[in-house]
Amino acid sequence: MENQFIKKNQYQIGNAVVTQHCPSNIALIKYWGKYENQIPANPSISYTLNHCKTLTEIEFIAGEDFSVQTYLSGKLELKFSEKIEKYFKNIENYLPWILKGKYIIRTENTFPHSSGIASSASGFGAIAKGLMELDVLFSNQQMDEEALQKASFLGRLGSGSACRSLYPGLVVWGKTEEVAGSSDFYAVPYPNDEVHAIFKDFNDWVLLIHEGEKSVSSTVGHGLMKTNPYAEQRFQQAHVNFKKLKEILRIGDLPAFIKLVEHEALTLHAMMMMSDPAFILMKTGTLEVINKIWEFRKNTQLPLFFTLDAGANVHLLFPNGEGTASIKNFIEQELMQYTQSKGVVKDEMIF
Ligand code: DP6
Repeated sequence: MENQFIKKNQYQIGNAVVTQHCPSNIALIKYWGKYENQIPANPSISYTLNHCKTLTEIEFIAGEDFSVQTYLSGKLELKFSEKIEKYFKNIENYLPWILKGKYIIRTENTFPHSSGIASSASGFGAIAKGLMELDVLFSNQQMDEEALQKASFLGRLGSGSACRSLYPGLVVWGKTEEVAGSSDFYAVPYPNDEVHAIFKDFNDWVLLIHEGEKSVSSTVGHGLMKTNPYAEQRFQQAHVNFKKLKEILRIGDLPAFIKLVEHEALTLHAMMMMSDPAFILMKTGTLEVINKIWEFRKNTQLPLFFTLDAGANVHLLFPNGEGTASIKNFIEQELMQYTQSKGVVKDEMIF
């Protein structure tokens, strides 16, 4: 299967500079737990965001000894450089020219670095796209559908969730019988004509409850699923949720969508609490906000709900439509107080 990405192209390498950008994404059904070689333990689906992006320039100097220098917002990042070097060595099978030169990578995010918003998805997505641009350049090919799929495949090997950021809209990663063509090796767009209009015009406002490094990285968190006694049930549940979500998306059942998405977020964090050693990434503000949202929904019946990634920040989800102004007003008046420094990133889904 992975062999489809090993090409016997004739490469003509030379000095080159390419620039790519890639958005972040927020999962509705979460990827949490993986096997060797970044194979996900269950299928996941996410919305690709519109404003939270990483912009990356890759300068390739052909023929020099292999090395990687990475600058994040102009600052040389040694740890990040090492990580990328390791990643490039790991994908040589798929890009045979990759170790035949020196790299200077300049990257920046549109969202604040300290925000705690995951940058690995947009970061590795942008690098993988840049590498594929070099690959098609050196092999005199075009950046076509196949190249994009390979970018998703390569992005996954950097960070699992990155493979979903290569496509707009709702994107699926991981084999599920519910989505034709889905794969553990790369992401595929969820069929647009099977999504009700209500799910195509959605906001995601990220409340920055805790800015800065989180105590346990996602990679370590995934690893702890190996010994989590509830892991198998969780993986099964993700499959069941996919089946439910497919119907929800088709018929436009917003209340059922809200229930499923919030439940996925809470399950993710419940898994953390039941890991050995246990860990908690939510903060007091996270819980305060969740309770406020539930109270608001009960009182107004308006469709404001949440999801969480592997951190304390709360992603506030709501469709555009009737009641949107009241929802935005409520967020500004009642929820902003729980952020660390009046921090909110106002994003939306891109279809
Ligand atoms: C909770 O993709 O960051 O955001 O593959 O180890 O780099 P690695 O992990 P990562 O995990 C993301 C976990 C999540 C859920 C999701 O995005 O599906």
